[in-house]
Amino acid sequence: MPAALKRFRAAARWTRLRCACIAAATLLAAGTSWTSAVAQGATKGAILFEEKGCYQCHGYAGQGTFAGVRIAPEPLPWQTFARIVRKPYGVMPAYSPRMLTDAELLEIYEHLSTLPAPAAENAIRSILD
Ligand code: HEC
Repeated sequence: MPAALKRFRAAARWTRLRCACIAAATLLAAGTSWTSAVAQGATKGAILFEEKGCYQCHGYAGQGTFAGVRIAPEPLPWQTFARIVRKPYGVMPAYSPRMLTDAELLEIYEHLSTLPAPAAENAIRSILD
């Protein structure tokens, strides 16, 4: 077999292997990642939290991400919470009542208020020990 063909075949084998690895990793990640509230048939508030895009910056559990601060568990008092969503103090886009009604915002607030607190720090430590 000519050397060029050998090299080509080796490269093709490597590419196939890489594709298989990526596919396997993707499946694994999909299987273990947080399943969306919509898929789980969750409360209206949880669904709105996803549909209105809050989760994109604040994370599925409101835990905060590089794009948005932590807003759960124990969200701010309702009045403050609602005022900030209508008129954010920084880079968050404002949600007008046409984009998100007061009733919908209240559903989101109730959802965030029911999210459990994370495990205590020493509970996590004991797993690591
Ligand atoms: C594009 C990203 C983004 C989206 C989408 C977004 N937020 Fe925010 N949110 C932020 C950022 C960033 C802050 C921090 C304040 C700021 O910079 O405006 C914030 C702050 C907040 C705060 C105040 C938290 C505090 O302790 O000061 C609340 C409450 C809040 N967001 C609720 C929501 C809700 C509810 C939604 C969906 C309806 C939402 N956010 C959608 C980025 C976002």
